[in-house]
Order: sequence, then C-alpha cells, then structure tokens
Amino acid sequence: EEPGRLARFQERIDAEERIEPNDWMPAAYRRTLIRQISQHAHSEIVGMLPEGNWITRAPSLRRKAALLAKVQDEGGHGLYLYAAAETLGVTREELVDQLLSGAAKYSSIFNYPTLTWADIGAIGWLVDGAAIMNQIPLCRTSYGPYARAMIRICKEESFHQRQGYEIMLTLCRGTPEQKAMAQDALNRWWWPALMMFGPPDSESQHTAQSMRWKIKRFTNDELRQKFVDATVPQGLYLGLTFPDPDLRFDPETGHWRFGAIDWEEFRRVLAGHGPCNRERLEARRRAHAEGAWVREAALANAAKRRQRTAY
Ligand code: 3HC
Repeated sequence: EEPGRLARFQERIDAEERIEPNDWMPAAYRRTLIRQISQHAHSEIVGMLPEGNWITRAPSLRRKAALLAKVQDEGGHGLYLYAAAETLGVTREELVDQLLSGAAKYSSIFNYPTLTWADIGAIGWLVDGAAIMNQIPLCRTSYGPYARAMIRICKEESFHQRQGYEIMLTLCRGTPEQKAMAQDALNRWWWPALMMFGPPDSESQHTAQSMRWKIKRFTNDELRQKFVDATVPQGLYLGLTFPDPDLRFDPETGHWRFGAIDWEEFRRVLAGHGPCNRERLEARRRAHAEGAWVREAALANAAKRRQRTAY
C-alpha cells in the first residue's frame, strides 16, 4: 500500500474515527482483526462446553436456569462475533473449518476441566471477570462492527460474573466441605485466568501494532494488573486464600504484586497439550457433524422461499 494511504488511515485512527467495513484499511489491519475477532468468537463457542457439562447437574432449579441462560448467551456472543468477522470478507464456513481443523486458536482457559460445581462459580467470577476486563476497552476498538458487538456482549457479561461470584459466596458461607470446594476451584482457576490476558507485553507480537491501531486500548500486562487489583479483594472477602505465596499489596503503587506465571504451561496449552484440548475439539467436530442436517434443511428452506417469491 502506498505510504500516503497508510498515513491518512493512521490520521483517522489518531482522530478516534471508527473504521467501517467499506472504508479503506491496510491489509494487515484487516488480517489482524479477522485473527482476533474469529478467535474471540471461537472462545465463546468452545467456552460453552466446560459449563454445559454442569447444566444437568446444577444443585437447584434456580442455578440450572441461570447457567442455561449464561451458556445460551455465550452462543449468542459467538454469533455476534462471527458476524463482525464476516464484514471483513471472510466466511463463517472458513472460520469454523479453521477451528475444527485445529488451525485456529481459542482462549486457553477453556482447555481446563470443570471438576466440581464450585468450578462454575470460579468460571463466572474469574473467567467472566477477566473477560469483562478485556472486553470493556474493546467497546472502543477502532473497528466499528467489533466495537458494536462488544457493547451488546458486555451488557450480558456482568450478569455472568455476578452469578458466578454469588455461587462462590454461597459455598464460602456453607459447610466446611463447600468452602473447601470453593478453595479448590480458586486454586485450579487462578493462574489459568491470569494467562487469559496473553503473554507478557515483552513477548507479545501483536500488542504494539494493535495499540497503534487502537484495536487494543490497554496492553496485556495492564489489563492483567487491573484484573488482579479488582479480584484479590473479592477473594479475601470470600475468606479464600490465593494460590500465590508472592501475592502482596504494594502501598507505594496501590497495586497487588503477584508471583511469576508459568508461561511453559501457557505454551503447552496453546500447542494443544492442555488437559482438555482434544476433548474440546472432538466435541465441536461431533456437534458440527450432528448439526449438518440443520444447516442443509435451513439452506433448502431458504432456496424454496426464494423460489416462491421469485414469481
Ligand atoms: N489463549 C489462546 N491464545 C492466546 C491467548 C490465550 N489466552 N493469549 C494470546 N494468545 C495468542 C494470540 O492469539 C497470538 O497468537 P496468533 O498470532 O496465532 O493469533 C499469540 O498468542 C500472541 O499473543 P498476543 O498478545 O501478541 O496476541 P493479541 O494481541 O491477539 O492478544 C488477546 C491476545 C488479549 C487474547 C487478544 O487477542 C484479545 O483481546 N482477544 C479478544 C478477547 C478474547 O478473545 N477473549 C477470550 C476470553 S474468553 C471469552 O471472551 C468468553 C467469555 O464469555 C468468558
């Protein structure tokens, strides 16, 4: 692309203008948005699996109804995000094929198992809490369709986080066994939740460019720190302890200092060797195969309707 067009595009970004589908944009801007939005959509769809596992085992009708609503919301979030990605000239089929073939990434967090009911509380509290930290700035991302999808998604995420925290509160105020279950869930979900924000800024290959193009408004480390600062007091209020001996409040900065993250584990999960990677992809492949008849029927019905209105 000639330098003039790139410079004018950057001026638009610097002027806080929204980029819309029919606007000129650098090929690399288009590519990185397709990459990030499609992975975000895949995360929503795969994210339905760990929680879906507990819909039939929820401890009460109220908990079942809330979990059902949350999982259904996530399917809808995937829909908004695939639709936003399609405005960049990629088809839904291509994106789904990339996921099912293992070529596309989705959030590392969904490769961990949900072993007890307390995991559903920890996911709502920590995973949706982290997702909110990451998604609120994305409501101001420079690409219009992505920002608008985010505004709708963020409205539903706060309910997800609250119902998770309420589950944790109920367990922590329950029997010693229930509190121990909540502590066990925190022990297993805390560090993977910190990894959701991506590698350290020093090792992040996209952050600098994504900040320049205002796709990102904060870096990975900045959002991770915001999440820790907001979440540690909540955990202490629950009477739980964090699985990090180095965690301590720094009165100088007002931030919570935390220990080293195991980036080896992160790399293993991204390479497909997390606890549930294979199971998650198998579940999606099976769902796609079992859903083929629905797609065919919908296409046949649409063709029939087109024929009827053709005369
Ligand atoms: N899981 C999987 N892959 C990850 C990752 C994670 N937690 N963090 C980073 N990566 C990947 C990146 O995709 C990139 O690989 P790629 O070039 O093949 O795409 C590589 O690691 C380098 O990381 P970068 O930090 O340079 O990449 P990004 O600038 O894309 O930052 C990100 C990563 C912060 C996750 C960013 O992509 C982002 O904000 N994505 C949108 C938010 C999102 O996807 N959230 C998923 C949370 S779960 C969710 O939303 C569901 C909720 O309802 C619970």
